[in-house]
Amino acid sequence: MGVLVLLIPCFLVLFCSSTPVSCVATNGDDKFLKCLFPNPQDTSNIPLIPVYTQSNASYSTLFRSSARNRRYLSSPNNSRKPKFLVLPSHESHVQAAVICCKKHGLDLKVRSGGHDVEGLSYTSSDIDPFILVDLINYRNITVNVEDRTAWVQAGATIGELYYRVGEKSSTLGFPAGFCPTVGVGGHFSGGGLGALVRKYGAAADQIIDAEIVNVEGKILSIKTMRNDLFWAIRGGGAASFGVVLSWKVKLVPVPPIVTAAMVERTLEQGATDLVHKWQFIADRLPEDIYIGLNCTVVNSNATSERRTVRVIFSILFLGNVDELLRLMEENFQELGLQQNDCTEMSWLESNIYFYYTVRSPLELLLDRDPMSKIFTKAKSDHVMVPMPKEGLEGLWRMLFANDKTVLKWTPYGGKMNEISESAIPFPHRIGNIYNILYQVDWVDGSETEKHLEFMKKLYNFLTPYVSMNPRTTYLNYLDLDLGQNDWNVGEVMAYRKAKVWGTKYFKSNFERLVLVKTEVDPGNFFKSIQSIPPSHHCSQLTEEE
Ligand SMILES: Cc1cc2nc3c(=O)[nH]c(=O)nc-3n(C[C@H](O)[C@H](O)[C@H](O)COP(=O)(O)OP(=O)(O)OC[C@H]3O[C@@H](n4cnc5c(N)ncnc54)[C@H](O)[C@@H]3O)c2cc1C
Ligand SMILES: *[C@@H]1O[C@H](CO)[C@@H](O)[C@H](O)[C@H]1NC(C)=O
Ligand SMILES: *[C@@H]1O[C@H](CO)[C@@H](O)[C@H](O)[C@H]1NC(C)=O
Ligand SMILES: *[C@@H]1O[C@H](CO)[C@@H](O)[C@H](O)[C@H]1NC(C)=O
Ligand SMILES: *[C@@H]1O[C@H](CO)[C@@H](O)[C@H](O)[C@H]1NC(C)=O
Ligand SMILES: *[C@@H]1O[C@H](CO)[C@@H](O)[C@H](O)[C@H]1NC(C)=O
Repeated sequence: MGVLVLLIPCFLVLFCSSTPVSCVATNGDDKFLKCLFPNPQDTSNIPLIPVYTQSNASYSTLFRSSARNRRYLSSPNNSRKPKFLVLPSHESHVQAAVICCKKHGLDLKVRSGGHDVEGLSYTSSDIDPFILVDLINYRNITVNVEDRTAWVQAGATIGELYYRVGEKSSTLGFPAGFCPTVGVGGHFSGGGLGALVRKYGAAADQIIDAEIVNVEGKILSIKTMRNDLFWAIRGGGAASFGVVLSWKVKLVPVPPIVTAAMVERTLEQGATDLVHKWQFIADRLPEDIYIGLNCTVVNSNATSERRTVRVIFSILFLGNVDELLRLMEENFQELGLQQNDCTEMSWLESNIYFYYTVRSPLELLLDRDPMSKIFTKAKSDHVMVPMPKEGLEGLWRMLFANDKTVLKWTPYGGKMNEISESAIPFPHRIGNIYNILYQVDWVDGSETEKHLEFMKKLYNFLTPYVSMNPRTTYLNYLDLDLGQNDWNVGEVMAYRKAKVWGTKYFKSNFERLVLVKTEVDPGNFFKSIQSIPPSHHCSQLTEEE
């Protein structure tokens, strides 16, 4: 391992020669690197840890690679960027990163697919220096068809998982989100909702084992971890508790042929009435039918500047066309679904179809970077009572006020109603008709303030129509407007402040997450601006209930 001896001094020389100012800090950095490579004479087979300093030529490309939200890429100056990128290719690399960060006072961020809408996997609002553990090279997937299970390393994307499952079996699938580039690290640890949600629940509901590196750098699995740690990482946001190395998931049966359809209706074509009606049936239909909505402002037709709202009804049916048409005639005849709106395909193909809106090569599911980077802001709500038509009309007026807004509505019901609110930290179960995601995407950075303000207005507009006490929000559409941690106010206040947003994501599961956090990471090493706070004042938990 002579290479190693040469490499370490090489990092340091580069680091120091580029910016003399950073040399002040290199003592600590030096120690961190020495800690990562303690024993250059080590002749074991463990591969060298790939570490990139800010002066490494590949640093910038790697840092930006999977980061989705330009809002968090354009502004950070070097002190807000990670000091080092660590790209583990072996579990021991993750362990070393945790141990050495803790030892030398560096924060640690972990990134899987980089789709965090608030950039928490790759930026820090704290002034504390941090390193980024990027799992891009830690993404093997092992599918076991006989057991109907898969081990998925945490750097894999859901597109890769779908592809690997479909490659092995035409009758197995997995219930997770629509966007193939979303990573399983964040997605599974926050819930994970897609077109199979009514039949099988969230991705997190399928997790049956996990490997996680804890704050001491130990690898735990279901056999060795506390029950409530295993509970917490399935929907409570794993980043508060450790670094997930891999998930073991149950795969679910799907028929060899499913039916997919996308139907567009504008306001002129009666979209308001259809959406109104949809609210009364979307969560009650047989579990084999999923009808999601996507609402945007478009020009009414190619030759007109006049604008309208277009609603796309995306339908997945676990059966054939004839059966779907019969069920739609019975339940939602107003939509007027026709045979030629429908296409029979494999479940695997349906994932491509819903994302690319046309049939495309399956290999696109493996493409980790098919989209250009955009500025984005998202919020979400749950609707428990159908919105009246006036509410929908008001909502359309909001869309006209900012035509870069997209609304995506995901119906619940079915399996979601059968799982208890406390089974995992994701609590949005019976009583919720649908989840409403609202999102604005833009490309001109100077518009940022305008769009952030607009999203607050839209959130206020929706207040009378959505869940209240608490007004619930889906963790995977993280929203820093709901509140932010401040560790300087003392533990009791930090807990009280966190409870405001924590209850929105987790309802009463928040309390249990705090207890788990206090047990497994009492020193709050795994922290962010919206991480679960530890609380050593147990009495306050019960006192406030
Ligand atoms: C374009 C787009 C489409 C989306 N579509 C859907 C959808 O259809 N359905 C849906 O439910 N959601 C959807 N989401 C939301 C998505 O589920 C969340 O943003 C999710 O957290 C992203 O996971 P990630 O691994 O890609 O993100 P990352 O940014 O890598 O991570 C997100 C969070 O998880 C933490 N984390 C990541 N890996 C680990 C790990 N190994 N151990 C511990 N913590 C970890 C990070 O530190 C960060 O806090 C979408 C988001 C985007 C941007
Ligand atoms: C950048 O870091 C990688 C991984 O540690 C290393 O292999 C490479 O030599 C470095 N490049 C430079 C120019 O230092
Ligand atoms: C860089 O970011 C840090 C941390 O947010 C901040 O304190 C500092 O003022 C910033 N520097 C510049 C030049 O923007
Ligand atoms: C992924 O699998 C390959 C082939 O079995 C193996 O060589 C590699 O070490 C694995 N990577 C990880 C991160 O486990
Ligand atoms: C929803 O609409 C947006 C904006 O038009 C589009 O980019 C996206 O692909 C649509 N999604 C679905 C599932 O139709
Ligand atoms: C397009 O819209 C304009 C204005 O609303 C209308 O006059 C025209 O008939 C429409 N064209 C088609 C093909 O629908």
